[in-house]
Amino acid sequence: MASTTAAVPEVALRSGGARPMPAIGMGTATFPVVRSGPWARPSRRRCAAGSWRPGRRNLQMEYVDLYLIHWPISLKPGPTVFPVKREDAVPFDFEGVWRAMEECHRLGLAKAIGVSNFTTSHLDKLLAAATVHPAVNQVELNPVWQQRKLRGYCAEKGIHVAAYSPLGGQNWNGDGNAVLDSEVLAEIAKARGKTIAQVALRWIYEQGVTPIVKSFSKERLKENLGIFDWWLADDDLRKIGQIPQKKIVRAETVLFSAEGEFTSADLADMEIVEE
Ligand SMILES: NC(=O)c1ccc[n+]([C@@H]2O[C@H](COP(=O)([O-])OP(=O)(O)OC[C@H]3O[C@@H](n4cnc5c(N)ncnc54)[C@H](OP(=O)(O)O)[C@@H]3O)[C@@H](O)[C@H]2O)c1
Repeated sequence: MASTTAAVPEVALRSGGARPMPAIGMGTATFPVVRSGPWARPSRRRCAAGSWRPGRRNLQMEYVDLYLIHWPISLKPGPTVFPVKREDAVPFDFEGVWRAMEECHRLGLAKAIGVSNFTTSHLDKLLAAATVHPAVNQVELNPVWQQRKLRGYCAEKGIHVAAYSPLGGQNWNGDGNAVLDSEVLAEIAKARGKTIAQVALRWIYEQGVTPIVKSFSKERLKENLGIFDWWLADDDLRKIGQIPQKKIVRAETVLFSAEGEFTSADLADMEIVEE
């Protein structure tokens, strides 16, 4: 296993007053998600700042460094039970929700604001309304879902990309793990004396993206930090660039129940798959 002596680099965020973001994040969420707070409901200006206040008290924090819109999806009022009923989805109010996020930023509750699970077309709508620039877009991204189009768009617009499921996620659909089982990554890892996880995380870092990796194992946490004192060769990058692409997280299958109909919102507007 590689050493963890190299310091963690930081990334500057484009958001007034934001602190730099570490080049690797430690995720804590496990799946399926159990939540008690508001989810996907801040469709009005008052609501997002209001929904943030109880969370802030629970966290015992005066402010957070970064506050994200989780999905470009809104639901009818009421408690959220997963999987969500399709008929509960309503059109997402890009301008109204972003105004509320901007208010959180203006009040100093969030030093930077951003989004998650936004495609380029979602970002187009957001940027048309934004007065505070979104600092970050957190999306599924790893060597088997490389998000080339989105990365190019975000680089051009000055939006930093963060990668969730950088190691392929927690096998929630029971299909195994396309990243940790990758023969291409295994071959590179063997040649470099690294683990497959380290090769995947290093590749993400070399793309200018911040991986958010979850582990509850002390040894694997250390392993995942050991990516800053070595690099991948051009030939490694070429091989990784040729890995067949496969997305795991989809709004339709991860969030919504299989039965029922989308009566008030269009699934195409909420889906997050983009080649
Ligand atoms: N914005 C969103 O919609 C969204 C969606 C999904 C996830 N996330 C965030 O992103 C974080 C990470 O994503 P994720 O949990 O989906 O996937 P991930 O970090 O790719 O994978 C986590 C799985 O890999 C294992 N693992 C971690 N380090 C390893 C290593 N070095 N070698 C082998 N296995 C290792 C973990 O198990 P052990 O714990 O046993 O090590 C865990 O089961 C989450 O915790 C969450 O905070 C956000």
